Amino acid sequence: MELEGLNDAVEFGAEMREENFSFQEGETFLNHGSYGSVPKCVQQVRRRFLDEMSRHPDDWYRRNVYKYWQESQKAAADFMHCDPKDLVFVENATTGINTILKSCRYKAGDILLYTTLTYKAIAYTCQATAELYEGVKSAELDIQFPIASEDEICEKYEDFFKSNPETKIAVLDAITSPSAVVMPLKRLITLCHRYGVLAVVDGAHAPGLLPVNLTELGADAFTGNFHKWVYTPRSCAILHVKREHHSWVHPLVTSWNQHLTLDEQFFLVGTIDHTAYVSAKYAVEFYQRIGGMDKIIGYTSKLASEAHEYILKKLKAEPLQIPQSMESPTMRVIQLPDLSQYPCTREGSIAFHTDIRYKYNIQCAIEVIQGHLHLRISTQVYNTLEEYKRLADCLLEVIQADKKN
Ligand SMILES: Cc1ncc(COP(=O)(O)O)c(C=O)c1O
Repeated sequence: MELEGLNDAVEFGAEMREENFSFQEGETFLNHGSYGSVPKCVQQVRRRFLDEMSRHPDDWYRRNVYKYWQESQKAAADFMHCDPKDLVFVENATTGINTILKSCRYKAGDILLYTTLTYKAIAYTCQATAELYEGVKSAELDIQFPIASEDEICEKYEDFFKSNPETKIAVLDAITSPSAVVMPLKRLITLCHRYGVLAVVDGAHAPGLLPVNLTELGADAFTGNFHKWVYTPRSCAILHVKREHHSWVHPLVTSWNQHLTLDEQFFLVGTIDHTAYVSAKYAVEFYQRIGGMDKIIGYTSKLASEAHEYILKKLKAEPLQIPQSMESPTMRVIQLPDLSQYPCTREGSIAFHTDIRYKYNIQCAIEVIQGHLHLRISTQVYNTLEEYKRLADCLLEVIQADKKN
């Protein structure tokens, strides 16, 4: 299969959007971080795989799909710098973390650690896993803004490990969500290992966004979405498991290959649609052909800085209080003023998001962080500064209208 129809000779920005993406006309998408976006040529690859499956289901499942899956596994492993035998596909990062936490065996007293910045679905996974075992607990490490330095984070973890030697697993973020903080991951993994704690990484946003070398990183397990920043169709994430843990890690769904190798087990989890996974190879090709990490992150991080600065000035707002070294290259967070129309609750954030979407046709993330509404913007190769300027104007209109009421 070839990647067809890619126009890689276009400039990033409006032309890239027009040529290579299929967004609804008249809509502005400034929220790539939530669901990613699939280039037209990668959508086409997936459709061709679906057609092949429909033409001859027996050939697809009995003969062809494992070969395609392994090719894609190899492309994903090369992209993440690891041995393909240690990397498998799962539907999403939530499944990746659930897989590791629920494969692990615990004894009374064990602690599963997450933080106040952990993605809620993952925090709930820690709690739900602990509840499966008598005497096992989950604990939340308190991390509040402002964050002064990476050292401050490492010290908090170290203090916790010192006073809680029963900590079995720490779920570490690569980039938090919705707060978009880049955590000092390598240092935290080293710290975990010094205290005999398994380091399980929620790298939901990391592939394609941060330069991750999974072999050097040394986490016990790492999951990351490819459907966010690597342009694969949804649902496609990777799960990397250190060789020494293969014996106890199994898919959440027990199937025919239960007693075989890690990749054979994760390939066969009943009869599923593998087409997002087997398209990953082509999404990686798209990523590389439009310029690879240097060019993509070069463009998107400059755009994020400019957009961030513009919105802050326009709204006279505050950025999230974190050191520059912990800022995500392609996502920025801005505190919004407290507004009477939109309470600082989940319902308030949904109402705000809905109004921006339907009044102005703009997609952005609005979330509650530490009791206040915050805006999170994402930047991608199809975005331009003009789009964030328009967002700032629209936000200002909403804020000024609220003040008049
Ligand atoms: C830090 C973090 N963890 C986990 C997830 C869950 O990703 P998914 O819904 O693809 O499982 C997200 C999604 O945005 C995230 O940002």
